[in-house]
Amino acid sequence: MPVITCIDDLKQLYKKRTPKMFYDYCESGSYTEQTFRENTTDFAKIRLRQRVARDLTGRSTAVSMLGNQITMPVALAPVGSTGMQSPDGEIKAARAAAAFGVPFTLSTMSICSIEDVAAHSPTPFWFQLYVMKDEDFVDAIIERARAAKCSALVLTLDLQILGQRHKDLKNGLTSPPKLTLPNMINMATKPQWSMGMLQTPRRTFRNIVGHVKGVTDLADLTKWANEQFDPMLDWGKVRRIRDQWGGKLILKGILDADDARMAADVGADAMVVSNHGGRQLDGALSAIRVLPSIVKAVGDQTEVYMDSGIRSGQDVLKALAMGAKSTFIGRSFIYGLGAMGQAGVTKALEVIQKELDISMALCGVQKAAQISREQVLVPKDFE
Ligand code: FNR
Repeated sequence: MPVITCIDDLKQLYKKRTPKMFYDYCESGSYTEQTFRENTTDFAKIRLRQRVARDLTGRSTAVSMLGNQITMPVALAPVGSTGMQSPDGEIKAARAAAAFGVPFTLSTMSICSIEDVAAHSPTPFWFQLYVMKDEDFVDAIIERARAAKCSALVLTLDLQILGQRHKDLKNGLTSPPKLTLPNMINMATKPQWSMGMLQTPRRTFRNIVGHVKGVTDLADLTKWANEQFDPMLDWGKVRRIRDQWGGKLILKGILDADDARMAADVGADAMVVSNHGGRQLDGALSAIRVLPSIVKAVGDQTEVYMDSGIRSGQDVLKALAMGAKSTFIGRSFIYGLGAMGQAGVTKALEVIQKELDISMALCGVQKAAQISREQVLVPKDFE
């Protein structure tokens, strides 16, 4: 087992152990991948201000999200097909997050169902909703999330139409995956990964299959899902979902200050500045670049979080310095999960917390909740 000291170590191990089509599904962006790349390269352009001779005792990475104290300003983002990266992957990730004291968000497009995760997670988790045309499905899944005691609804707004990723099309990533000769040869070189994972009933999208009339297997699901993302999602529908849910609401996928004002007016408790990890609108700005304009527009009305491109504790520090109250990670925890299962998710969280703590200290800050623009130097052309 190699020594893991950073998120990139987990990524390399994940790459080694995972069939190419699932690695590529995670590690890709839409079209030219410009936005996907800039999500990380823009973080590197922001520099940290070293300070010395400060009292560094009593340090803490704790912050609050939606009024709850959490171990560090990081939540696990909703990631579809997480259970395809590791058997029962959603349960493993939820358990790792609960033990660490950070929120876990379950995707509508997860392999394990809301009920599966609720039965195995020691703490309430958040549920991410994709609005589908089938209103009965949307009504029912909101009720299922309520029954499972999910403590927030994360409504994703940036995927009413699917961005295209060249790699997925070229790899034949369909449901079920196309078992072409190159795919089979590639899978045979991944001893930790079992072909059986593709065939057991557990490898299906259990939030949907069996809950929608006529959707009883993966082939039915693909057909249903392709027709279901609702292009009619507008602010009126967001309001209706807010009223129906009645609990804490986080709007995800905001990348424009005007939209942020609409989201705040709708009464969202929080919003996530996000470009879906560069998987949707290729050519959009990186989330970290847009973040300050959104904080300026609505930061006194709602909590503002950000994701897209976070691969280290230094990135978390920079996101908070640019105005985010907290962050989400997507790929950083998937690398860990695919590399080492639940222990790998824990490792990813440990790595990020240690990096955050040390970097905060070297910037002269004791507490994550005190991080401010003072800690960063931002290029002039950045905003
Ligand atoms: C995602 N993301 C996502 N978002 C969402 O709201 N529902 C979903 O089902 C998914 N599925 C998904 C799958 C994969 C493989 C990835 C990488 C991402 C987006 C995710 O929640 C988050 O916004 C990004 O992952 C953040 O970017 P980083 O941290 O991966 O760079």
